[in-house]
Amino acid sequence: MSPPKSSGIDLSDDDLDCLSISELEKRALGRMDKQTRDYYNEGADSGVTLLDNIMAYQMYRIRPRIMRDVSSIDSSVVVFGHRSSAPFGIAPAAMQKLAHPDGELATARACARRGIVMGLSSFSTTTIEDVRQASGRMPNALQLYLFEDRSHSRDLIARAKMAGYKAVILTVDTPVLGRRRLEIRNQFRLPSHLEIANFASHATESEVKSSSTEEGNNLPDGYATRAPQITFHTHGPNPTLEWKETMKWLKHEAWPMQVWLKGILTPEDASLAVEHGADGIIVSNHGGRQLDGALATLDALPDIVAVVGRRIPVHVDGGIRLGSDIFKALALGADFCWVGRPALWGLAYKGQVGVELCLRLLIDEFRRCMGLSGVTEVKQIGPDYLCKVGRSGFVSRL
Ligand code: FNR
Ligand code: LAC
Repeated sequence: MSPPKSSGIDLSDDDLDCLSISELEKRALGRMDKQTRDYYNEGADSGVTLLDNIMAYQMYRIRPRIMRDVSSIDSSVVVFGHRSSAPFGIAPAAMQKLAHPDGELATARACARRGIVMGLSSFSTTTIEDVRQASGRMPNALQLYLFEDRSHSRDLIARAKMAGYKAVILTVDTPVLGRRRLEIRNQFRLPSHLEIANFASHATESEVKSSSTEEGNNLPDGYATRAPQITFHTHGPNPTLEWKETMKWLKHEAWPMQVWLKGILTPEDASLAVEHGADGIIVSNHGGRQLDGALATLDALPDIVAVVGRRIPVHVDGGIRLGSDIFKALALGADFCWVGRPALWGLAYKGQVGVELCLRLLIDEFRRCMGLSGVTEVKQIGPDYLCKVGRSGFVSRL
């Protein structure tokens, strides 16, 4: 018997060297230079939160229902007003040309082919406009760092609007940068042939001066400072953000694009986000790269979902490595998930083909998980499908 249509699985499509995201990670690691591998994979400080994000998914098990006709499965959802083939997108991650020369273009093309939304980092190595073009019919969202010098951010927002982006996603968990030890040890620098594409022509006088004093440092070949750059080290963190002024300014500048907040971990802040007019929030701890010791995003999710009460969409990211992780996050009330490192591993493995592989693995696993759980539409997924494994090992209903 041929596999049912709804399984979405074509065995001839498989990459036999890489049948899971964990295999993809292994394959990718050998293809990145040390600086890139460390930058992509590490978390802040001791890495507790990075690990907790992943482990939190292990504390839930699925309660599958049987004898339901699952011959036709629809895994699609609407996000930013467009249909996405599955309820997850690719999280904004900086400097993707470190992984592969095609960088963000490869990610955007892979996402377009698989009907998946991509978030673009402010610190991309490809421009806003080029990524828009590569995304085809899929909508775009620009992740924003609101610089202390607002003129840079204003320019970025205007360009996104002009290019047709649907949303800006303000990252709010970077008042200061997390301390990533390997990044420091490696003296992380963007190789001289790459640039932070959206700011290629920007540099203030003081930035020119401070950059020129960095000449003669002990950088490995190919990592020398080339020109004054706006980098995530100099411009990512912003300790001055505060609810009232920031949201008012941003909503005004971004309109008619939606304004989302990324990096919320408490119901208190989720309430404030609704109060100040956010169009949606992403429960995130920046993949464990900012506050080490912060709670896992899956653990933060239920209280936030409860307080938001469907007034705005609630998305989640961090630690998603399996299609069943996406199922679990949705069962706990998330409307949509974002996946970070796995796409970077795909990119390092085989450029666009590698990102497509990453997407295909997660989509296939998610759809198969739906079918095996007795679910045919995403909206049916809820807490009834989960139980929790307690510290004692006992399993209980939610
Ligand atoms: C990120 N992330 C991130 N977030 C953001 O708002 N702006 C950015 O520029 C970046 N850059 C970035 C680079 C790298 C190398 C990584 C791994 C992550 C965080 C990202 O959007 C997301 O929150 C996490 O990656 C989610 O965790 P997982 O899926 O990687 O576990
Ligand atoms: C990072 C910044 C760029 O996580 O968000 O490296």
